[in-house]
Amino acid sequence: MTVQGPDPARFEAVGSVAVRTFEARRTETSTETQATHPMSTYEEDLPDGQFYDPDAEYEPDPEYAATLAPDAARQRRERVGPTGRPLPYFPIPGPVSEHGPAQIIAMCNQKGGVGKTTSTINLGAALAEYGRRVLLVDFDPQGALSVGLGVNPMELDLTVYNLLMERGMAADEVLLKTAVPGMDLLPSNIDLSAAEVQLVSEVARESTLQRALKPLMSDYDFVIIDCQPSLGLLTVNALTAAHRVIVPLECEFFALRGVALLTETIEKVRERLNPDLDLDGILATMYDSRTVHSREVLARVVEAFDDHVFHTVIGRTVRFPETTVAGEPITTYASNSVGAAAYRQLAREVLARCHAE
Ligand SMILES: Nc1ncnc2c1ncn2[C@@H]1O[C@H](COP(=O)(O)OP(=O)(O)OP(=O)(O)O)[C@@H](O)[C@H]1O
Ligand SMILES: [Mg+2]
Repeated sequence: MTVQGPDPARFEAVGSVAVRTFEARRTETSTETQATHPMSTYEEDLPDGQFYDPDAEYEPDPEYAATLAPDAARQRRERVGPTGRPLPYFPIPGPVSEHGPAQIIAMCNQKGGVGKTTSTINLGAALAEYGRRVLLVDFDPQGALSVGLGVNPMELDLTVYNLLMERGMAADEVLLKTAVPGMDLLPSNIDLSAAEVQLVSEVARESTLQRALKPLMSDYDFVIIDCQPSLGLLTVNALTAAHRVIVPLECEFFALRGVALLTETIEKVRERLNPDLDLDGILATMYDSRTVHSREVLARVVEAFDDHVFHTVIGRTVRFPETTVAGEPITTYASNSVGAAAYRQLAREVLARCHAE
C-alpha cells in the first residue's frame, strides 16, 4: 500500500492554521489506514491532537482582531465601549417626587431564548432601585417572567388574560407586588394562549392591551412588557401599547436572522396603529468578550443598526440562569456581580435616552 500525501480537499484554512476537517478525521479514524500507518499522512503537518472542532475559537488575524476590539490603552484613554464607540457617561439619576405618566417599553424579539425575560426582570429591578415605579407585564403564556419573580403561574386565579378579556376587570385585582420595592407584576399563565385566538374577533383587537393599561399609566414611570417569541397578535398588542421597543439580540451567528422581519413589523405597527412607536434599541446579550465570534457579531450588529445599538452590552454569565431558579432579579441575588452592574448601566442609559427626548 502506498502512503498518500495530504489531500488538500481534506484540510480547511481556519485563521492562520490549516486543520483537518471533521469529516476527514472521522473517515481516517474509522478506516484501517490509521491502524496500519499511525504516523502517516497528516500527523507531521498538525500540532498534536488537533482536529476541526466547529465550536472552537480559532486564532484571529491580529490586525483584523484589532478592528473588532480596540486595544486596552485606547479603551481607557477614549472610554471606548464594547460596541467600538466612545462610551458616553450615563449619570446616576436623581430621585423623582412624582410618578407617571409611564413610558411603555416592549421587550421584543420573535427569536426564542435571546434574553427578553431576563432583560425585563433586571432592567425593571434596576429602574426600581433608582426610585422609579415599575410595572412588569408578563405577555408570554409560558409565564417565564412570573416564574423568574418567584410566582407559580399554575396557582394564579387571575392573570393578564382576565384583564384583557373581561370588561370591567380592575387591574388592581390582577396586580402582584414583587419582592423588589416599587416593582409590580401583571402575571400570566397558559390561559393567555387562548387570548390570541379569542382576540381575533374583537373590535380594535390590536389595542386591547393598550386599553387595559391606560388606567395604570399615572401610577408608574415605566411599564415593561415581556413579549413571547412570536410576531402574533399578542406581540402586535404589545407594540401598539408601547412607546419604545427594546430588541435583545444574542451575540451568536444567527442573531441578525429575522431582525429584518421584526423591524418591518415595528414599521407597520408605527404606520397603521401607533405613530409614537420608536425602535429604542438593540441590546446585545450573552456577549463573551473573549471570543472573536461574539466581538464579530457585535461589530456586525453595530454596522447594521449604528446608534440604535445600546452602548450597554450584557455579558454571558451563569449567574442569570441561577437567578431564574432563585426567583429574583440579579440586582438582589448577586448585587455586586458584573451582570447586576450591566443592567444598572442599561437602566441609566434608558433613562438618559428618555430625558434626551
Ligand atoms: N447574559 C446571559 N448570560 C447567560 N445566560 C443568560 C443570559 N441572559 C439570559 N440567559 C439565560 O438564557 C436563557 C434564555 O433567556 P430568557 O428566558 O431571558 O430569553 P427569552 O428571550 O425570554 O426566551 P423566550 O423566547 O423563550 O421567552 C435563560 O436560561 C436565561 O437564564
Ligand atoms: Mg421569555
